[in-house]
Formats: sequence, structure tokens, C-alpha cells
Amino acid sequence: MPFSQIARSISASATLKLNAQAARMRAAGEPVIHLGGGEPKSPAPASAIDAGVAMLKTGEIRYTPAAGTPAMRDAIIAYTERYYGRKVDRANVMASAGAKQAIMVAMMALVDPGDEIVFPVPYWVSYPDMTRLAGGRPVPVRPADGSLEPAVAEMEAALTDRTRAILLNSPNNPSGHVYSDAFIRAMVKLCEDRDIYLLMDDIYHRLVFDGRKALHCYDCTDRSVDDAKIVVLNGVSKQYAMTGFRIGWAVGPRELISAMSNIQSHQSGGPCSLSQVAAAAAIAGQQGSVARLREELEIRRNELVALLGDVPGVKIHVPGGTFYGFCDFSAHDTDSARLSAYLLDKVQVVTVPGIEFGLDGFLRLSFCGPIEDVREGVRRIKWLLDPASPPELAAGDRVFRK
Ligand SMILES: Cc1ncc(COP(=O)(O)O)c(C=O)c1O
Repeated sequence: MPFSQIARSISASATLKLNAQAARMRAAGEPVIHLGGGEPKSPAPASAIDAGVAMLKTGEIRYTPAAGTPAMRDAIIAYTERYYGRKVDRANVMASAGAKQAIMVAMMALVDPGDEIVFPVPYWVSYPDMTRLAGGRPVPVRPADGSLEPAVAEMEAALTDRTRAILLNSPNNPSGHVYSDAFIRAMVKLCEDRDIYLLMDDIYHRLVFDGRKALHCYDCTDRSVDDAKIVVLNGVSKQYAMTGFRIGWAVGPRELISAMSNIQSHQSGGPCSLSQVAAAAAIAGQQGSVARLREELEIRRNELVALLGDVPGVKIHVPGGTFYGFCDFSAHDTDSARLSAYLLDKVQVVTVPGIEFGLDGFLRLSFCGPIEDVREGVRRIKWLLDPASPPELAAGDRVFRK
């Protein structure tokens, strides 16, 4: 008997599949260089570990309210005031098992079958399938060739009477692009004019380089958090290097947050109580680890950009934030899945095909791992793609052949 229509319309996350494949190859002793990852490797902040350990020792690890503990929600309130300059109260915030769940639950609260969510290309891999899971129709908007930001008119043209929300992620996974202030302002205005929601995935908003800041949407409206149809989605995964804790959150109008909390209460219940304690402590604690992470990433970003400059035929849009470089390899192969498989097969470098993000001909190269991996990964790619390079390349005790 076939599985449900939903099960048949969804595929496994491409990035999680690649992670599993890289882990299998490493376990088999292969010298894999993983430029496909999506998590910083620095340790979680000491404040988070200490608070988590202390709680674990009490042995009292229980259910929490569906929207998160009062202490976790208070930490999100403090975060919102500190980084967005907005005072909200507990009814405006919901903690989830990662930003992923917060986005999913927001979609489930907004979308009826056939409703549309509009987002720019390139997009985070999960957005189309999440929209489908919620019963909706994903509407990706391609920018003009050579750009990573659609024109406002292109976004506007994609809106229909079925559009429930525009979904933005700035800085962006996979491109590292920080959307221009003018674009963010225009999207806030467009959503207000059309009376639709703006879902703002801010998971990388503190990982921005060159002394810049990503403009946040509350700075573009005079409306209160309850009146603005804006939902800010965020979490501890990237900025605090706490991916495995699985804590994210949503901030938005109280009626929507209440509907989302009802959905979450039946879907999973409150997020892990131990993780909430650790996440709240990370938010309240010293913020030095975030600054250090951003500085290290900026160094690695600079290195990646410089090294790729030497690879014939490859163009990189300099990432303004995140830990991803989105590189145009179309001069070598316009089929990014084929090129990614070729790199893995020939020189054991893991990359993510651009097609997974809606843009073929590109590969996403992560620089969240050690700088040596960035150097070695690009060295192998350059050797393989450069017709003038020698037929063999030594990598430790391994020799690659063309
Ligand atoms: C753009 C974007 N949004 C959301 C998430 C989900 O983060 P988490 O569920 O770990 O909080 C990710 C993770 O890769 C991401 O890249």
C-alpha cells in the first residue's frame, strides 16, 4: 500500500544525506574533506554547559509548557530587546525544537491547502519541502542572472491572492548574501500593503562580516509586534554553536504565537527541558564566543575567497555573513549534482549542489570547519578542474589520479 501523498512528495534533506555519506566514508578510513556541513565546530558556551550539567544532576528532567518554560521565554524576550530594540512579552514568544520546528509550525498555522509561501532563490534547502508539509505551494523567485537578490518587482509579481507569507533568510544560506537594506524595507512594506506575513529567518543574523549589520525588519516599521505581521525566527544552533541542543524560537503577534503553540503542543510538546536551560544560559551569559566565532569565520571566508580566486573558471560572490560560499562552477559543469558527485568520487571533497537551493551550476562550500580543510578542499578541487595540473595529486598517504 503506498504511503501518504505527503510522504511521497517529500525527499530527505540533501544536506543531511551528504553528512551521513561523509561520515560513512570517514568511518571507512577515506580522507574525506567535508565542505558540505552546516554547523560550527566550536564548543557550546561554558554558561550553557554549566547550567545544563547542574540541571541534569537534579534528576528532575520534566515536560515543560508547549511554548517553552517561563525562563526560556524570558531569555527570548531579553534577546529581542537587546538585538531588535523591541519589548515583547511571553505571549509573543514560543521556543521550539530548533528554528526548523518554529518555521514549520508557523507555516502550519498560516497555510491552508494550496496557499503559497514566496521566497527568493537561492533558498535554504528545507523551505520548499516544509511548505509542502504544511499543505502549501512553494513559490521560489529567481533573481536575474548574476544576482543573489531578486528585484522587488519580481517578488511583487510572484504574489497572488493565495500568498500567505514571504519568507526571507538574511544573511542567506546558501549564498552568505546579506540582503540590501532597501530590499528588506521594501519587503516589510509589501507585506504590510498586501496584508500578508513576513517570516524572517534570522538564524545567522549575528554572523555578519566586515563590520556590517543585517538590517532587521522591526527597524522598518512603526507597527507594534502584535500589529506587524512579522514573525522573527531564530535559535541557538549557529551563533552559539549549539546545533545538537535543538532550541529555536519564534517572536510574533500573540494570536499567531498562541495558534502556533497549540499546534506544537500536539506535535511534540515543549522542547527538551534540559536544552531550554542551556539555551537560556547561553543567551544570558558572556557573548564572547559569538564574537570569536564571527571573527574566525571572517578569516576563513577571506581565505576561501582568496583561494578560489586561483581556481580557473570559478566565480564566488563574496559572502557577507554565515559560513557558506556559493560559487559559480558553471564554466566546468552546469549540472551541479553531477559536478558535486564527481568531486566526491575523484578527490573526496563534499560540497552541496546548488540545485538543492534552486540554482544549478553553483556549489555551496562551507567554511564552518577547520581552516586546513578549506585549504585542502580547494587545493584538491583546483587540481581536479585545472586541465594544466599534473595527472596525480598526493594527499597524505593517498594519491588521487585524474
Ligand atoms: C537558513 C536556516 N534556517 C533554519 C535552520 C535551522 O536551524 P535549527 O533548526 O538548527 O535551529 C538552518 C539550519 O541549517 C538554516 O540554515
